[in-house]
Amino acid sequence: MLSDSVVEGPLPNSQFQRSWAEIAAIGRDAGSGGYLRYGFTEPVRRLEEWFRDTAVADGAHTVTEDGNGNLFAWYGPAPEQGDAVLLGSHFDSVPYGGGYDGPLGIVSALLAVRALREAGREFRRPVGVVAFAEEEGSRFGVPCLGSRLLTGALDPDRAAALTDRDGISLAEAMGGRPAGARPETLDRIGAFVELHIEQGRALVDLGAPVGVASGIWPHGRWRLDFTGEANHAGTTRMTDRRDPMLTFAFTVLAANKEARLRGGHATVGRVEVEPNATNAIPALVRGWLDARAADAGTLDALVEAVRVKAADRAARDGTTLALTRESLSPSVEFDGGLNAALRRVLGEGVPVLPTAAGHDAGILAGHVPTAMLFVRNPTGVSHSPAESAGDDDCAEGVRRLADLLDELAGQ
Ligand code: GLV
Ligand code: MN
Ligand code: MN
Ligand code: MN
Repeated sequence: MLSDSVVEGPLPNSQFQRSWAEIAAIGRDAGSGGYLRYGFTEPVRRLEEWFRDTAVADGAHTVTEDGNGNLFAWYGPAPEQGDAVLLGSHFDSVPYGGGYDGPLGIVSALLAVRALREAGREFRRPVGVVAFAEEEGSRFGVPCLGSRLLTGALDPDRAAALTDRDGISLAEAMGGRPAGARPETLDRIGAFVELHIEQGRALVDLGAPVGVASGIWPHGRWRLDFTGEANHAGTTRMTDRRDPMLTFAFTVLAANKEARLRGGHATVGRVEVEPNATNAIPALVRGWLDARAADAGTLDALVEAVRVKAADRAARDGTTLALTRESLSPSVEFDGGLNAALRRVLGEGVPVLPTAAGHDAGILAGHVPTAMLFVRNPTGVSHSPAESAGDDDCAEGVRRLADLLDELAGQ
């Protein structure tokens, strides 16, 4: 049963629809309806422009960028006062992603602040809304790039040298080396709350518009380079080939099997082939393994089992395998006190769910008390144009975020 909200009437519904319509076309591919919103590109810059304008119109006294591409809008007492409540998420998408993964958390945060302002409430603690940079890692390969830089989990020199698929470095895209760890910013944050579209069907099955996250599975990305020998597809005897595509195909099936055995998740969603010609045996197949599991031991065992099987198969195929870990996100448990506050404002019986998706909240959780809430996704699909959310559920998310903010920071 949901409890009463401090925000009365239908206001968030119409405001949500209006705000959503303002950004809906930015970065959307007309054919598929999917979004191409990558960090430090024109669509994200336009979204950030919209963020600045909206925040300032709603009374933000400062909008700052932290040197890592993360944008902060501040309301109420000066952030230097400390113990700030920070809300937000990310604007960027995966290639041809949905529109809700990320932006819903930012738009909801801005509207929650506005709803309290319109209800005449004031803040006793500094309140911030953040738009984190390149959460998906779709352009530079490292997920949660902005929050990792902010917290010092990613070395700024290593980050500066990361390149996108066109060979543009992060330093070039940002117009300079990222600033790296900002302990003075982190020290000012007393709580971080990220609202996010649910990326599964748990809330649909439970008939609940919103839910609370308990934690995040450990997960990571590994690059697999399979090297063989380029040769003629027509004239090379089947027995004379060193074909890395075979090793790769076997490894994809092995990853699927090993994940199922352990109740984990394994995906190979990106692949590059050289020379990538129909009539040539490949010289190189490069694939990326995304692996996740309920605990670190299971994740290690899963990736190790894939490595052993792939290496064994490579020996038989006359190919070689090089495995490189590109990122690892440890398991996260969200803050007990904040989750209790969320359950109070969401009402007893609100679903509490674990997730296997990565979030900036997972990175922040190692440094400040952090929590997440999810909004129902009727299709249960995410990282795809089929991702969806109802306006009423989104407005409910805004109302509940406003209630939480009022409880944490209201006078
Ligand atoms: C981010 O959305 C991830 O979990 O890959
Ligand atoms: Mn995502
Ligand atoms: Mn996201
Ligand atoms: Mn994500």
